[in-house]
Amino acid sequence: MCVQWILLIFSVSLTSCHSLPERIVGGSSISIRSVPWQASLQKYGKHWCGAVIYSSDIIITAAHCVKGVSAGAFSVRVGSTYTRYGGQVVKVSKILGHESFDKSLANDIAVIRLQSKLSLGTAVGSIPLAESSPATGSSASVSGWGSIGYQRPMSKALHGVSVDIVDRNKCQRSYSGFITKEMICAAAPGKDSCSGDSGGPLVSNGELVGIVSFGMDCAHPKYPGVYANVAELKPWILKAIQRI
Ligand code: ARG
Repeated sequence: MCVQWILLIFSVSLTSCHSLPERIVGGSSISIRSVPWQASLQKYGKHWCGAVIYSSDIIITAAHCVKGVSAGAFSVRVGSTYTRYGGQVVKVSKILGHESFDKSLANDIAVIRLQSKLSLGTAVGSIPLAESSPATGSSASVSGWGSIGYQRPMSKALHGVSVDIVDRNKCQRSYSGFITKEMICAAAPGKDSCSGDSGGPLVSNGELVGIVSFGMDCAHPKYPGVYANVAELKPWILKAIQRI
């Protein structure tokens, strides 16, 4: 009887744990002003993926966010902490995804040209691309409107979380050889990006070091988040911007 009560109390407290105000897998609500390069890539007017402002008319996102969809379906919202209102909304004119992005998920990067220029200000700004990959253990932050936990709802307000760059070989072992040099891994206990954050920024030292790409589950202790490695992909990005 007593044991049953203890079990009952335990399960009640477990269920109520789930209704605590959970943040994006260990992060917290942030203002767009702290990450003015963050954009919401919208498909038919609804948040679809994260994206990053490179310049007033060039946006970077993940290839898997735009693959097989025509440019006309997309717009970006910038300068707002929310995906549904505020800031500026500009239509996409052209998309160029990496030619070698495929099932291996390597080269998960795309550049977007906007139909008109964004007006830059305190809530809307660009971020430089990293020259070299950050060292293992470097601290980085990732932001987005993605899910606040694996198979949990999307977040209406922007969230951010800080994670550490994971050793490539360690990440390679987690994903049994799947990790290429065009990928970079980051993790911290109970902290991660999640579905809906894809295409968004991983920033370290004021530079864009990664684009949210994939992960097994979210904040899984054995599986780091995997990002497109911006420093490795920089030559492709710069050429793509010339071509688009
Ligand atoms: N592929 C996901 C998206 O489309 C991003 C998943 C990131 N997962 C992670 N565990 N870091 O939004």
